[in-house]
Amino acid sequence: MTVMPAETATATEAILEARGLTKHFTVGGNFWSGRKILHAVDDLDVVLRPGHITALVGESGSGKSTVARLLARIYPATTGDIIFNGRSIVRDRGRRRNLSYRSDVQMIFQDPFSSLNPVRRIRHHLARPLLIHNVVPRREVSARIHSLLTRVGLVPPRYFESVFPHQLSGGQRQRVAIARALAVDPKVLLADEPISMLDVSIRIGILNLMLGLKEQQGLAFLYITHDIASARYVADDILVMYAGHVVEKGRVDDVLGEPQHPYTQLLLSAVPNPQEGLATRRMATRGEVPAIVNPKPGCRFAPRCPFVMDICRQVTPKLADQGGGRSVRCHLYPGST
Ligand SMILES: Nc1ncnc2c1ncn2[C@@H]1O[C@H](COP(=O)(O)OP(=O)(O)O)[C@@H](O)[C@H]1O
Ligand SMILES: [Mg+2]
Repeated sequence: MTVMPAETATATEAILEARGLTKHFTVGGNFWSGRKILHAVDDLDVVLRPGHITALVGESGSGKSTVARLLARIYPATTGDIIFNGRSIVRDRGRRRNLSYRSDVQMIFQDPFSSLNPVRRIRHHLARPLLIHNVVPRREVSARIHSLLTRVGLVPPRYFESVFPHQLSGGQRQRVAIARALAVDPKVLLADEPISMLDVSIRIGILNLMLGLKEQQGLAFLYITHDIASARYVADDILVMYAGHVVEKGRVDDVLGEPQHPYTQLLLSAVPNPQEGLATRRMATRGEVPAIVNPKPGCRFAPRCPFVMDICRQVTPKLADQGGGRSVRCHLYPGST
């Protein structure tokens, strides 16, 4: 695992940053019951830096994919700001800048197969973004495809460019999806559970590819996962999310070495060792995180918390700075109340 010293971490400028990012969905309700507002993400701050992997960890339903979609501008935010390269992209609606943002910030999905056209060869999937975004002159497209395939470990490229998606393994398809994302020369990759549908034996290869890309190309990654062991393996920083709230964040070694929030402790207690954690699909899951609809004040984790106190059911804890780049949202710690 690569560990950046704290000084380096803070010295690197943010490439993509969210402040107070919030997404609410209206999910029905009527005149008598009033509106039902689902709080998918509330007041989230995150900083992505070049050459850094930030993990966003939590069980299913905690709001992770919504964060990725907000950052990719697939969804508009309810409130909050997204800052790319020092500029707010929320207020900035210029068409050209919008297009360049869409190539600068690329998303990688859980299921690579669903995003590949089954009747088209791999060459086609990589040529398209190169031509649409005018990345290279037409005569250089072929060479660029070869270099992309090589970068993601699909060698020899002459073979891989000529096959159809169904001729590849799940891991190879995910590599094609990553190559396609890289085609437009992005600065940020948002990877939403990129290994959770893959065979256990090939997951580590994709994680190593991510590590190589961050180190050699200085890419900034948001790595979304429900698997805390894989986050420990690749990430520099970590955010732990529960029911739309970040409950704990900091450097990955600090947070996972000495978890403060009871939820992080619960997640870790379900992963006896990293190898085993990588080998299992589940984390600590006892099912889905409850959807948060028209929430009342109080800690969202209180119903499951072994340390719950009266205050937890009445006052929403704040995400409070604990020093050393760590924050925690829990009444057991100073500053949260
Ligand atoms: N388009 C949507 N409309 C309504 N509710 C949604 C929508 N997308 C997500 N949600 C809800 O938001 C919450 C967080 O979902 P999601 O971001 O997919 O979580 P995760 O990726 O952590 O599993 C869930 O309760 C989910 O049902
Ligand atoms: Mg998801």
